[in-house]
Amino acid sequence: MTIWNLGSINLDLIYGMDRLPGRGETVAATSKAEFLGGKGTNMSVAAARAAARVCHIGAVGPDGRWAKDRLLEYGVDTRHIAQIDSPTGHAIVAVEVAGENQIIIFSGANRAIPPELVSNALAEAQTGDILILQNETNAQVETAQMGKELGLRVCYAAAPFDADAVKAVLPFLDFLILNAVEAQQLQTALGTAISDLPVRDIIVTKGADGAEWICTETGSNQAFPARKVQAVDTTGAGDTFTGYVLAGLDRGMPMAQAISQAMLAASIMVTRHGTADVIPDLKDIQDLML
Ligand code: RIB
Repeated sequence: MTIWNLGSINLDLIYGMDRLPGRGETVAATSKAEFLGGKGTNMSVAAARAAARVCHIGAVGPDGRWAKDRLLEYGVDTRHIAQIDSPTGHAIVAVEVAGENQIIIFSGANRAIPPELVSNALAEAQTGDILILQNETNAQVETAQMGKELGLRVCYAAAPFDADAVKAVLPFLDFLILNAVEAQQLQTALGTAISDLPVRDIIVTKGADGAEWICTETGSNQAFPARKVQAVDTTGAGDTFTGYVLAGLDRGMPMAQAISQAMLAASIMVTRHGTADVIPDLKDIQDLML
């Protein structure tokens, strides 16, 4: 099967900081590095590293050929990434020593994806394939609806969080992934408990406190502890988790097993500096078991 990802593609400019700047403050960085990133890209690379077949749908600008080439090197199908006139998206990421971050994104081409690109790509999809979307691109609602009509398993990673964006795709979702703060914000915005949402599977990630899987069909609720590690950079850990969960499901794993493997991948990711380029592969996870 295939994972179809309507997803962002960014150049990540990552700055190491002793502490994150406050409002109106200027703080010097201690390091600077560049990575391939974007929540969508990170998820595509994670799923590919977890041995899934992944087709990324997105756009880069005239300056973005490198990003497409790198995704291809990482085993992602890039045939449905367009090169358009808008500049490639980028992110300015400040990471403090304890691993927390602040991110500014410039959307650029990520919010100008030609709609026909999506329909052309999904014309190749098959019933039972997975479709993943996040909130860094245009065309989310049309794509989710198309996915639902085609019988795909439609998943939404609600980041960067916007309650209205979640509301708009909610009728088409089979699967929702969000963090604990976002879950609380969504409950407040909708006036509905997360467990009452019309979505079959919901995962709430809680950083060092692990994750929770709510299956609304059976009414079950399962907690997954996080592996204890010394985090140096949490950027992209949530995306790695999502990519691994989807890859596990795509490969036929039960949800609990897919989540457990994804927790391990995310626990390795937070010990590394960077984004898509440093996402762990299955061998890294196997090495943890030794
Ligand atoms: O989740 C991390 C990602 O958020 C970064 O790669 C950055 O590009 C932003 O999209």
